[in-house]
Amino acid sequence: MKAVVVEHYAPIDQIELKDVPAPSIEPGQLRIRVEAAGIGFVDGLKIEGRYQTKDPLPFIPGTEFAGVVADAPGAPGGYHPGMRVMGMTRSGALAEEIVVSPAALHPLPDGVAPEVAASFRANYLTALYALSARASLGAGEQLLVLGAAGGTGIAAVQIGKLLGARVIAAASTPDKRAFAQAHGADAAIDYTQTGWRDTLKDLTAGHGADVIFDPVGGEISVQAFRSIAWRGRHLAVGFAAGTIPALPFNLPLLKGGALLGVDLAQIATREPDVQTRLMSQLTGWLADGQLKPVVGQVFAFADFREAFKTMQTRAALGKMVVRIAP
Ligand SMILES: NC(=O)c1ccc[n+]([C@@H]2O[C@H](COP(=O)([O-])OP(=O)(O)OC[C@H]3O[C@@H](n4cnc5c(N)ncnc54)[C@H](OP(=O)(O)O)[C@@H]3O)[C@@H](O)[C@H]2O)c1
Repeated sequence: MKAVVVEHYAPIDQIELKDVPAPSIEPGQLRIRVEAAGIGFVDGLKIEGRYQTKDPLPFIPGTEFAGVVADAPGAPGGYHPGMRVMGMTRSGALAEEIVVSPAALHPLPDGVAPEVAASFRANYLTALYALSARASLGAGEQLLVLGAAGGTGIAAVQIGKLLGARVIAAASTPDKRAFAQAHGADAAIDYTQTGWRDTLKDLTAGHGADVIFDPVGGEISVQAFRSIAWRGRHLAVGFAAGTIPALPFNLPLLKGGALLGVDLAQIATREPDVQTRLMSQLTGWLADGQLKPVVGQVFAFADFREAFKTMQTRAALGKMVVRIAP
């Protein structure tokens, strides 16, 4: 089969598409024919060996995928050949086939395209878990989304609207702000401008942000916390800017505000019931058309490097997807 293979941790230009043997299948596992794989921020770090946990070399990158069950000896988890699924795994999705356990999979509602399914689970589950299970975002509250045109950001914009919040999108370019507003944001802010907090204050009639969804990090995070409303909740989601901020403890005290951590990687084991409930809420919205997940840009398998580069150069609108099977 064809697969992207990382033989040495390296920039994406040095990573090749290769012919490799298809993975072998053990009892209790399933073979999936991969149709599309989503490229996340973490995938870019992993190929360079810069993620907090390193995948042993050689490895096939790609953590999120959609496809069709090709082989399911004993029907583990109730999956049968021909069923359409979406999945999350530690690695291996940028390949024509992947072998996983049923816990990695979720059945795909009818009519959902592979590109949509491959860009759905990680970002939308992160957004819903953060906004609902962690921050208890309420209808009518003011939600500030930083990096609002990125993969997790645009998911937070859409989920925030579904939960009834007023959404203010912060992003660095006019295109990104227009993109966030096209997907439901009520207002947008250029947070690269000094004085952006004054704009936020005006937009919220002096109230501030009840909830801040923050996948960006760096100095912007501390500035944003300074604009939090009384009893506000700031969600630490990620550090796309490359710097982990240090929050002075007097700020939560003065603002009556809380800093809440979000880690999608841990909820399956630490809060499995919550994950099951949120996934069923998400797939319900997906099936009845209330949620139309954003597919950023779709690349052919041979062009997988462009998908990584678009994301790594801060040029991406939404999540990047690689189409693997036609
Ligand atoms: N906690 C969790 O469970 C979880 C789950 C998924 C992702 N994450 C993390 O969340 C972060 C964002 O992921 P994502 O998929 O949303 O990434 P993304 O699609 O690349 O979006 C990140 C956004 O951050 C902003 N940004 C600011 N400074 C940047 C810089 N120097 N380089 C790149 N982007 C910069 C960009 O918006 P502007 O140009 O508008 O500033 C960009 O749109 C990553 O750190 C990822 O690991 C965490």
